[in-house]
Amino acid sequence: MQNQLSTTRNGQIFEEPLIFERSRPGRIGVSFPADDASLPIEIDSSLLRSAEDIHLPEVSEPEVVRHFTRLSTWNYGIDLNLYPLGSCTMKYNPRINEEIAASAQFADLHPNTPEKYAQAGLRAVYELQEVLKTVTDMPGITLQPAAGAHGELTGLFLVKAYLKKKGDTHKTVVLVPDSAHGTNPASCTLAGFTVRELPSTAEGLLDVEEFKKALTPDVAALMITNPNTLGIFETNIPLVADLLHKNGSLLYMDGANYNAIVGKVSIGKMGVDISHLNLHKTFSTPHGGGGPGAAAVVVSDRVREFLPGPIVEKKESSQGPVYVVTSPSASIGRVKAGPGHFGMIIRALTYILSYGNELHRVAEQAVLNANLVRKSLQEVFEPASGLDTMHEAVFSDAKQRKTGLETIHLAKTLIDYGYHPPTIYFPLSVHGAIMIEPTETESPETIAHFCAVMKDLAARMNGQDESMKSSPTRSFVRRIDEVEAARKPVLNYFTKKA
Ligand SMILES: Cc1ncc(COP(=O)(O)O)c(C=O)c1O
Repeated sequence: MQNQLSTTRNGQIFEEPLIFERSRPGRIGVSFPADDASLPIEIDSSLLRSAEDIHLPEVSEPEVVRHFTRLSTWNYGIDLNLYPLGSCTMKYNPRINEEIAASAQFADLHPNTPEKYAQAGLRAVYELQEVLKTVTDMPGITLQPAAGAHGELTGLFLVKAYLKKKGDTHKTVVLVPDSAHGTNPASCTLAGFTVRELPSTAEGLLDVEEFKKALTPDVAALMITNPNTLGIFETNIPLVADLLHKNGSLLYMDGANYNAIVGKVSIGKMGVDISHLNLHKTFSTPHGGGGPGAAAVVVSDRVREFLPGPIVEKKESSQGPVYVVTSPSASIGRVKAGPGHFGMIIRALTYILSYGNELHRVAEQAVLNANLVRKSLQEVFEPASGLDTMHEAVFSDAKQRKTGLETIHLAKTLIDYGYHPPTIYFPLSVHGAIMIEPTETESPETIAHFCAVMKDLAARMNGQDESMKSSPTRSFVRRIDEVEAARKPVLNYFTKKA
């Protein structure tokens, strides 16, 4: 039969017809009661289309249920197994977050509800603002940005506003270490700055001597990812902050990897001026498929007056506290509608409250788990740095490459073992990078199983197992031409059929 696709059940592969091939003329899933069918509703004939016009399959209810249930298993998700993508922090999304976000007082709250009727929602926004200011030790915050990269852009607009007010418009360069996340230089360019790349030391840290040389009068800011994309903590931040401030420049710390240091480190005391925290990385809001993400941008007093509104403030009244929406005096304006992605704000707050005073345990467990990965695999894969790992362990395929089998073959074969591949070939500074982030939510048993599979794969690579070049063989989608797929994506069924 045409257009059959394979699926795996109990370890066996079956060829399955697609929903369109199951279609039979006249087969229906539901029948409306005769009473409803005779309702006197007149629909203009120009608005009516037949089943053929809209190409809907005609199938029974069980076929529809099986179709969607089967589709859900063709995709990999955190609810199925460990999702070791480094830098993405694919951690479990606790169900309590969903329950609270779905409750009527939050889910049914219209963004334009007048303040006095939206007190519960405004209080939740205020509480998250306050708790994030407290844990980071930073005086200002916005929850508006819709993702980490959007937080970066917002932060860089704050840098611009700060320099403009001081008349320092000649400062147009942002220093970005080569260990930064890829979105950092992109955001700088989008915000109209010129990027000057800084080389890292052999261990993967910011090279302070190179930084000093690059710190010329035209430098607007340093944008440094910490912990950086090698999973290492940058130790020279206070020194660097001091030098920047003496130069009239600002320190932007990409805090997307904050899950490694939450509750452990004071961003404020490090001398940071702006930092974004991805709520979908550290605070367990859903991540993937392009969003909706959310980021908080925390700031020092230097740039606080430029923050985007709305910001929620608490005022005392004779009836108790009242939550009001305000905007800072020299605000750069909104970067998103409303207070930000409200559902994500509720989820993040729920996660934080469920840890209570123990929020630091997120960092402790994340770092412990990443070190368990590192220690388990460092004999078989080359670690990218000799320094201690924070939230993720980065290796390379240096020990295997000579066999003709490299990172890509490892990643593709891992799929046949039931795991999503780690992040590969990133960071760019590590040739054949394999970047694994287990997150705090995985048990030692899960990590041990994953590492055993990785060791098995290392042995197959060392033994020049050429069959790895045709993996995956057990997944719904097999080996694809990734370049062709990216350049000429086929996005719907009918295009494919034609
Ligand atoms: C260090 C770092 N910075 C920035 C980002 C960008 O965040 P987003 O994907 O939410 O735009 C990420 C994403 O994982 C990251 O790991």
